[in-house]
Order: sequence, then C-alpha cells, then structure tokens
Amino acid sequence: MSTVKTSTASALSGAEAFPHRHLTGIAGLQPHEISFLLDEAEQWVDLNRKASKHDDRLAGLTLINAFFENSTRTLLSFEIAGKRLGADTVNMHAAQSSIKKGETLIDTAVTLNAMRADMIVIRHASSGAVQLIADKVDCPVLNAGDGRHEHPTQALLDALTIRRRKGSIAGLKVVICGDVLHSRVARSNILALTALAADVRIVAPPTLMPPDIERMGVTSFTDFDEGIAGADVVMMLRLQSERMGGGFIPSLREYRAFWGLTPERLSRAAPDALVMHPGPMNRGVEIDSVVADDPSRSAITEQVEMGVAVRMACLDVLTRRRRGVPGWA
Ligand code: CP
Repeated sequence: MSTVKTSTASALSGAEAFPHRHLTGIAGLQPHEISFLLDEAEQWVDLNRKASKHDDRLAGLTLINAFFENSTRTLLSFEIAGKRLGADTVNMHAAQSSIKKGETLIDTAVTLNAMRADMIVIRHASSGAVQLIADKVDCPVLNAGDGRHEHPTQALLDALTIRRRKGSIAGLKVVICGDVLHSRVARSNILALTALAADVRIVAPPTLMPPDIERMGVTSFTDFDEGIAGADVVMMLRLQSERMGGGFIPSLREYRAFWGLTPERLSRAAPDALVMHPGPMNRGVEIDSVVADDPSRSAITEQVEMGVAVRMACLDVLTRRRRGVPGWA
C-alpha cells in the first residue's frame, strides 16, 4: 500500500502560521492554518514509525486529559502524543472524579488550572463545554469532542489520511454517510474538507439529516446509491444510539439495507475509492466487515495511526508560545 506525501506549507511562519490559543473547533481556522497543522504532523508520522519514538520538546510541561465521555482512540492517542513529546501526562476520568459528587464543570476547570496545567484536552457530552473551559483557564485547551458540536482533531487526522493516500484534497469527491445529525465528526470534517476545496456530499436518512446542511457548502442525498456514485472517499459514520431518543430509524436491518456500506454499494464509487470510519464501528450496521477489513480499500487503521501524529502536532504548536519558541513568543 503506497502513501503520497504532499506538503502545502504556508508562506507564513512562526505564530502567524497558527495564531490561535486553543483548538476548540475547525470553525474559525483558515485553510492555510489547517494545512499548517497537517504539514506539522508529517514529521510525527515519521517519528512514530521508528523503533525509538521520543522527542523531549514538551519536557517539564503538564498535559491533563479530562474525559467526561468514553473514548479509546482519542484519549489514548492524546496520552501517547503527550508522552512521546516528553510531557508529564495525566488522565482524569469523570467516573472517578468529584464531578460524581456534584462539582460543576467550571469548578473542575478552575481546579485543573490551579494545578498549573500547560495543556488541557477535554471531551464532554455538551456542545460548548470545551469553549466554557477554555474561557476559564490560562493554558491552551484542545477539544477532544463536545456533544454534537465539533471533534477537530478527528477531522485533522482524517484530512491527513486522505492527503497522504490521494496526494491532495482539493477536488476530491468525499461522501460522508450516516448519522450526520448527531455527529461532531461530520461537522468538523465538513468544515475542514470544504475549506480544503473537496466536493463534499452528505448522505443520511431524512430523520438523521440536519436541516439546512447545504448551507455548509455540501450537497445532500438521502439515496446512498446516488450519493456514492464516483466517490473518491467514502467516510462512514457511527450510528450514535446513545444520542437517540428512539424513532430515528425503523430498524438496524433496514438501516443497513439503505445506508450501510456493503461491497455492492462500494462498487458504485471510484475503483480506487478510500473507505474511512472514525470508529468505533457498528459492524454489520453502517459498514460490513468485508469492506472495513479490506486492506486494499480501508484506511481505518491508518486513521488511528494519523491520530497520534496529528495530536502531537497540535500539542507542539499550541504550546510554542508558552515555551518561548523563537517566532512564537
Ligand atoms: N473516533 C473517536 O473519537 O473514537 P473514540 O471515541 O474511541 O475516541
């Protein structure tokens, strides 16, 4: 399986290349700022493929990962990213925290800040919770997923995966299919991929299609066979049963029949179409195992690999100012 690396480095350097204090979303980022983070991640892909994966640029800094919702990929990859860059990395699990005793989110943020964290990564079930914390603390805050709002590092790792596999993103037909209504992954990906000039098509059942989605610069379809025709990238979304009160889909069987990625449906895409899924997958619902596990088509494990590199890039870039890196102080 070959990969293509394409740098689109901006002419801007130092803090001008990425002037933001936090990473709360893709919204508000310029295309060149997104490309800058992807370019920065390339060096970490290379490091992560070596036997020794250590760089000490964050030595002496403290990273707190505060996760108020479950996670495997995002939590572990932020933890690995922090450790590979030499930061003192600690994880706060909501189930064992004083949140369970009724402590508020704001008081939790103030407490983490008082411990002089240098970076805080937050996952929370409420849209906007990450911005609330960012407004209360003195250090960079990174959004690891807030409600239905955004999951910016997922979109960055997806963009990096696509860029490396396809050479560039501009002009690619990217289909995002599934539970778009509840998906922060879809929202961040739409923002990132349209900023990078992809032709983004959204496919969802009518009940899981956000109203006015086309205002985000995408084309929408309820017929998957129509939406997938000629696609270069097919990104499937998890059916988020935990965010549904019921009544969104008739049955899992019917959902698979109309909106599941089967080999037959994939044959309508471009012959070299890339299959993606942010995970965790509902196998046999939104995606068939025979498709998800086909190494010639599926980039799902590569997405996980790119996740570590992208999170290393974000931690590095967002702490340059406080580390006094020349051009960033
Ligand atoms: N894609 C993603 O956010 O996965 P986790 O919930 O396992 O972090």
